[in-house]
Amino acid sequence: MLQTISETGKSFSDEVSCVSDLKQLEEVRIKYLSRKGVVANLFEGLKTVPKEIKPQVGKSLNELRNLVQTQFDVLKEKLEAEAQKDKRVIDISIPGREKTIGSRHILTQTLDEIKLIFKGLGFSIFEGPELESDYNNFEALNFPADHPARDMQDTFFVNQNYLLRTHTSPVQIRVMQNQKPPVRAIMPGKVYRNEAISARSYCLFHQVEGLYVDKDVTFAELKGTLVSFARQFYGSDFKYRFRPSYFPFTEPSAEMDITCFLCKGKGCRMCKQSGWLEILGCGMVDPNVFKAVGYDPEEYSGYAFGMGIERIAILKYDIPDIRIYFENDMRFLKQF
Ligand code: PHE
Repeated sequence: MLQTISETGKSFSDEVSCVSDLKQLEEVRIKYLSRKGVVANLFEGLKTVPKEIKPQVGKSLNELRNLVQTQFDVLKEKLEAEAQKDKRVIDISIPGREKTIGSRHILTQTLDEIKLIFKGLGFSIFEGPELESDYNNFEALNFPADHPARDMQDTFFVNQNYLLRTHTSPVQIRVMQNQKPPVRAIMPGKVYRNEAISARSYCLFHQVEGLYVDKDVTFAELKGTLVSFARQFYGSDFKYRFRPSYFPFTEPSAEMDITCFLCKGKGCRMCKQSGWLEILGCGMVDPNVFKAVGYDPEEYSGYAFGMGIERIAILKYDIPDIRIYFENDMRFLKQF
């Protein structure tokens, strides 16, 4: 009997040392410590033990039971603590970390809106390269080599014949060289100017060019198209005016102003107290431009216009500084 007791102690220790979770521990408990378990059975056997050795066997049995119970308790506590810790690691009630979701840049959104409006007016979309020839950027647009109007646009030259385009007007030349009239297209893209960087001007910005060429195109159609665009883009609550201006590639030339949205024409910092905001340049295509692309200026007429996208969005959303478009600051980008 004494030997059985000591073997039971050993086998319990062996089994318990293999236990790695609460489920296994419970199996061991049932085997040894339940009402019909190994330990209870041994106590049952005590009845048949001869009287003389009963106290000794009884004492051993009690020691066995205490040992088994203590080892069981210690292990149970340890496994429970571990289980609790595991649970904390995968606590599904912890709120998730929010992922920041990107959005389209405000310039892209503005351009998309402009494109949609002109598509509705029957214009198709063309794009040209940012690295452009001096010929397309200036010469074909009626800026001769020594023409003082070249000074209007500070140019990044790559070499004598190539440059970063200073406006999207050279795409007019590309479109007309590749297609006979009628032409009705807008041409969006990046342009570059070597200007002093400030809140108002940056070395890079975006323009949308417009061109319509057909027989008997008039200035009245140009006005109608641009007013229709402005009403769709800015809403109908403004007055407009066309102010005479000068571009080498259009004659006559004009700039379109609309009443300032901030002050409704009364005069404020946004409109520099004038009550008016300039939104684009435009005019009737100069006959010399038609000659450069092989169109007959006697047969065809047309209009062109160009607007800066940064400027348009600055006015629409009251953005204080053009540089902020290019800084990728989430606090700015998230607002749109
Ligand atoms: N290209 C001119 C500019 O950058 C804008 C313009 C385009 C004016 C077409 C008239 C016609 O300032």
